[in-house]
Amino acid sequence: MNYINMGNIKTYIKGKNRLSGSVRISGAKNAALPELAAALLSNDEFEFSGVPRVEDIKVMFKALKNIGAEGEFNNNFINIKVPEIKSSLVPKDIVETSRASILILGPLLARSGYAKVSLPGGCSIGDRHINFHLEGLRKMGAEITEKNEHITAKTSAPLQGIAYRFPQKTVTGTENLLMAAVLAQGTTVLENCALEPEIGDLVDLLLKMGADIEGKNSDTLEITGRSTLKGTRHRVIPDRIEMGTYVIAGSFAGNEIVVENAVPGYIESLLDILEKVGVNLEVDNDRIKVSSNGNLHPIDIETSPFPGFPTDLQAQLTTLLTQAEGVSRVKENIFNNRFQHALELNKLGADIKIAGDTSIISGKTNLTGTDIIATDLRASAALVLGGLIAEGETIVANSYQLLRGYENMPQKLQELGAEVKLLGVKND
Ligand code: EPZ
Repeated sequence: MNYINMGNIKTYIKGKNRLSGSVRISGAKNAALPELAAALLSNDEFEFSGVPRVEDIKVMFKALKNIGAEGEFNNNFINIKVPEIKSSLVPKDIVETSRASILILGPLLARSGYAKVSLPGGCSIGDRHINFHLEGLRKMGAEITEKNEHITAKTSAPLQGIAYRFPQKTVTGTENLLMAAVLAQGTTVLENCALEPEIGDLVDLLLKMGADIEGKNSDTLEITGRSTLKGTRHRVIPDRIEMGTYVIAGSFAGNEIVVENAVPGYIESLLDILEKVGVNLEVDNDRIKVSSNGNLHPIDIETSPFPGFPTDLQAQLTTLLTQAEGVSRVKENIFNNRFQHALELNKLGADIKIAGDTSIISGKTNLTGTDIIATDLRASAALVLGGLIAEGETIVANSYQLLRGYENMPQKLQELGAEVKLLGVKND
């Protein structure tokens, strides 16, 4: 799909259609991103399948090509190899588009001893610090300077194994240090690691590459460095945030959706909440059937690191809670500014007040379509869900955000019976 201009992609939605049928979940963006970066850790070829065709992946692929990667991205397959490092720079435009390009830092430093990455600025969901990433790499022997919005990391000797306890859980921080450690000299013990399933998938990939890692899916990873690692094939796990988004879509009055290629265990926290809210769920090992009669109860919840309720589903659940009879409270513990969607949902007629780190949602409110703006990836999905239940037409501006992390969302929703289309794109 080519874009006339990234800036004016919009999503048009005509609301109130009943959603029914099945939707297949794509591969996890937040697993594929570190896994593509891990290709830097070897000269060999890699074949990734189940890669979601989303903008953040295209940006990561472009960043790796700038560095010296060769390969193709066709449909949901990427083959990639990095026979030599041609450049060690990850430029500002790449990092600004997708903060996840910080995941290049650890593996590039481990591979070549030098990396220059522009600093990920603040973004609309809040501060995106990387101090724990840098603290760990410095302990491993990297000399890191931060100057005019760039991080320069270099190490004359191989990185050294360390003992490091993360002061707080960080997903990409865990991934960066894990990827640095697999080529380091000696043993690294990382404590208080994040437990998100995408990290377990990255560990699976690294083990297939010949890495020596103990403690998969635990908060303590023990890595014994290897001098070389080999290429391999890998299928990316399904995307739990996309999964949760469609389960929430099926939770609105009158809908009945079957979510295929699901891993219910990845979204247990959400399923527990939806049960309490009054949604009907039938859960098998790889599919989730969700329906609702629209009698939804309010609930008080808070976001927390996996296996708690994920911050990346907070906005989408907020949209559902505008339809619950009563007052719900959503406490956001991970990011310090992740309520932008609330202001836009209020334009549709929702009644959401923000009190510090908590949003207070009074329902049930009837929503009416209008022009709204997506501020970040997950907010864009929440606003599309709002448009689906609003009376009349909704236009979600800045829908490039949606394309960053949801593969074919308009098409998937159309197949479920929604009236949704992208404006401002040329379908190739
Ligand atoms: C990952 O971001 C995800 N991105 C995010 O998904 C997700 O919201 C987030 O984890 C939390 O689950 C990818 O995996 C590519 P963190 P990440 O480091 O790693 C603070 C999406 O929508 N912190 O776990 O950047 C930080 O400021 C995206 O797909 C430090 O203070 O998040 C934040 O408040 C949005 N110092 C909190 O920890 C550090 O060195 C959690 O951040 C690192 C983090």
